[in-house]
Amino acid sequence: MGIARKYAVIDPVTGKIDRSIFSDQAIYDDEMDKIFGRAWLMIGHESLVPAPDDFFHTYMGEDPVILTRDTEGRLHPLLNMCRHRGNRVCRVDDGNAKRFMCTYHGWTYRNDGALEYVPGESEAYYGALDRASLGLIEARVETYAGIIFATWAKDAPSLEAYLGDARWYLDTVFNRRDGGMQALGPMKWLEPVNWKPLVDNCSDNYHVPTSHLSSARVQTRYLGRPRLSHEDQFASPNRHAFVNGHSITFRDADDNMPRYVHGMSSETMPLFQEYHEATMPEVERRLGAFRAHRVQLGNHSIFPNGILGLRLALPRGPLKTEFWHFVVVDRDMPEDLKRVIRIGSQANNGAAGMFEQDDVDNWRQVTEASTRSLGRRHLQDLSMGIGHAGAHPDYPGLVSERYISENNQRLFYGRWQEFMNAESWADIPLDPIKARFDGLATIRG
Ligand code: FES
Ligand SMILES: [Fe+2]
Repeated sequence: MGIARKYAVIDPVTGKIDRSIFSDQAIYDDEMDKIFGRAWLMIGHESLVPAPDDFFHTYMGEDPVILTRDTEGRLHPLLNMCRHRGNRVCRVDDGNAKRFMCTYHGWTYRNDGALEYVPGESEAYYGALDRASLGLIEARVETYAGIIFATWAKDAPSLEAYLGDARWYLDTVFNRRDGGMQALGPMKWLEPVNWKPLVDNCSDNYHVPTSHLSSARVQTRYLGRPRLSHEDQFASPNRHAFVNGHSITFRDADDNMPRYVHGMSSETMPLFQEYHEATMPEVERRLGAFRAHRVQLGNHSIFPNGILGLRLALPRGPLKTEFWHFVVVDRDMPEDLKRVIRIGSQANNGAAGMFEQDDVDNWRQVTEASTRSLGRRHLQDLSMGIGHAGAHPDYPGLVSERYISENNQRLFYGRWQEFMNAESWADIPLDPIKARFDGLATIRG
């Protein structure tokens, strides 16, 4: 066994962080064990495998995983690696199959992972093969409102404890309707970036009026969106909150307006308003009056690599990230509204989306700065708003005073460090669940 590395990459007093975490291969390799081998990872959505024997091919970190629904309807995240020599036993993105056959020597697995058939089991192996112990490696699985999470860690806490009070906010999108949500996609592409800057960007609203100026001008001119300015952002009553590594931004929506999503324009707004008002009694019943009327989830990330809804930042080396973009919509939403959201989402945050292109360039520059010997000697500065966050009487988690703050970024890298320095889950602290979850919605939906 090697000597455990100890990380001290962020100074919580000054907010300075060591840039080497964005490009160092040894740190990246350690992340695959300590973070992606340990955390609950978002891997898909129940709507991607709705029927018995459906499967969807996904990833946990770099490891390929077949997410199956067996004939009895149970979910199984199975490592896509034949237990014989290691070939992938599934080579397609999704489908419906009761079995997966390895195309090297023909070992065949059931969709619950069991090794069912080995060519020449009695002749070649003389009946001595312990077939029962050679099923596909299976991760633990749990769901939250239809979103499927998995972990390799036997000692991980429950998903409920892992999400903690972040679920109080996440419910306002993902647990809104009785019929649940539906995932469309994913659109996939590669970015020349480390996976962390794009996760920390989910709470960075400071960049919006600068980085997205041209995109915002287009939206103002052609879609009737309000003009964006730094002044508005600084004076915004919106908030940042942080729980267990999960970064939340949200709006205190005291105005009967629907939550902002891409696809809204002066033309489509009446559709959104009508839907918002028609569904409000149901939302109130599910989430209680306060959350239904007042809390609107904004940009957010779920530790470690779930970003802005059901979007995944899949690490592919320290300098590369595979991006999976799903659009999630209420299953029982009118089809014309689903279409408006799907097109709006792609136009802004898809591979060629106006906002996405601005963002990718930022993340690439942050990553590249960490690869240069001189640049690496100078620490990144995340000092904004130090000392201006704490408990809040109405909102759970650690809440920053202003919408524009680097509180969530500091805490995200602090959480990264807790995982990287832990020997096991026993060393990783979890905030107790304190929020009151009014309404009928549960973690299962
Ligand atoms: S590697 Fe799969 S059957 Fe041999
Ligand atoms: Fe952005």
